[in-house]
Amino acid sequence: MGLPVEKTDHTGVTTRGTMHDGMKMLLWLRTGFHVHQRFADIRATDADMLYAETVRLPWERVIPTEGCLSVVSAVDNPTITNSMFPNVKVKDAIVDRMTKIHGSRPDSNSRADHAVIHLFWKGDQARLSLDFAGPKLSDRGYRREPGKAPLRETTAAAILMETGYDGSRPLVVPMCGSGTIAIEAALMAAHRAPGLLRSRYGIQHLETFDEEAWRDIRAEAKRDAIKTTGIAPIIATDIDPSMVASAGRNARTAGVEHLIEFSTCDFADTPMPDAPGTVIMHGEYGLRLGDAEELAPTYARMGDFLKQRCAGWDGYVFTAREHAGRIGLKSAQRTPFDNAGIDCRLLRFELYS
Ligand SMILES: C[S@@+](CC[C@H](N)C(=O)[O-])C[C@H]1O[C@@H](n2cnc3c(N)ncnc32)[C@H](O)[C@@H]1O
Repeated sequence: MGLPVEKTDHTGVTTRGTMHDGMKMLLWLRTGFHVHQRFADIRATDADMLYAETVRLPWERVIPTEGCLSVVSAVDNPTITNSMFPNVKVKDAIVDRMTKIHGSRPDSNSRADHAVIHLFWKGDQARLSLDFAGPKLSDRGYRREPGKAPLRETTAAAILMETGYDGSRPLVVPMCGSGTIAIEAALMAAHRAPGLLRSRYGIQHLETFDEEAWRDIRAEAKRDAIKTTGIAPIIATDIDPSMVASAGRNARTAGVEHLIEFSTCDFADTPMPDAPGTVIMHGEYGLRLGDAEELAPTYARMGDFLKQRCAGWDGYVFTAREHAGRIGLKSAQRTPFDNAGIDCRLLRFELYS
C-alpha cells in the first residue's frame, strides 16, 4: 500500500500513517486480520498497576459516551492466571474514567462488535490499541455457505500471493469446496477491495471516526475496481455438486460469479485451458484418527493428475504437513502455513512439459 514498514514479526507489521491510511487498510488488506491503532504504551507489573495506568489515559477522546466497547487481549504476565481478568480491569478503568468526566458511561460487552480496545501485555510492558476492524477482516461477508473444511479468506489470499498469481494467466482450482481460493483470486484479478463487501467495522464506533472521509474512500475503492477485461480464465471444480452450488452462490455474493467457470467433476477430469497457468489443489486432511491413512490413495492420484494433465503448469498443493509426502512428486518449494492451528504446507511442483 506504499506505507513504510517500521517493524515486522510473526504476528504483524508496524507502520505509520494517517486515519485515512487506516481506513484504506480495512478495505484493501487481503491477508491481515486486524488494524490496530496504537493508543498508549504503559508499564504494568500486575492488574492493579494496569488499572491505575489505564484510568489516566484520555479515553473520552476516542470512545463515545453513548457507545459500547469491548476489550480483547493477548497477555503473558506471571501474575495473570485468568485470561479474562485483564480485559475486565481495562474496561473498568475506561468506564470509571468516563463516568467521572461525563457522569455517564458507555455500555460494554464481550462480542467485540462495536468499539474494540486491544491489550497486548508481555512482562511489564503493555500496549493499548484501538481495533479499527472489530470482527476479523477475514470475515469478508461473501461466504454465507462455508462448506466442510473451508480456508479462511485471508489464508486463501496468502496462498495466491505466495504463488505470484496476478490474473494474467489461467488459474485452475480442482477440489474448490466453497470456492474461497477461486473467489479471492477473482477479487485480486479484478483489483477489487475485499473490504468493500462488508459494511460494519470497529472504526465506525470511535469518536474519531470521519464518516465523510470513509464514504469518499469507499467510493474511490469502488471506482478503482474497473478491471474486468484481460483476466485469464478461472476454473473451479469439485466432486460434490452441493459444494459447487454453494461456491457459485458465494461467488455471486462476492460479485465475481462472471469471472469463474464452475463445474462438478472428479479433480482428474477438470477441464484444463490450452494456455498454461497455475493449478492449486487443497485436499482434505482427515483429522480424525485413521482418516488420514484413508486419504493416501487420493493424494497419490493428485500427484498423478499434476504429472499427467498439468505439464507446463505451476502446480501447488496446500495440505496438512503429514500428507506432503503422499503426493509422490518431489516438491521444489515448501512454504509453512499455520492454518487455524493446523501445521500446513504449500507445496510447489515444477511440472515440465
Ligand atoms: C479441504 S476441502 C476444500 C476447501 C476449500 N478450499 C474451501 O475453502 O472451501 C476439499 C474438497 O475436495 C473435494 N473432493 C474430495 N475428493 C475429490 C475428488 N476426488 N475430486 C474432486 N473433489 C474432491 C471435497 O468435496 C471438498 O470440497
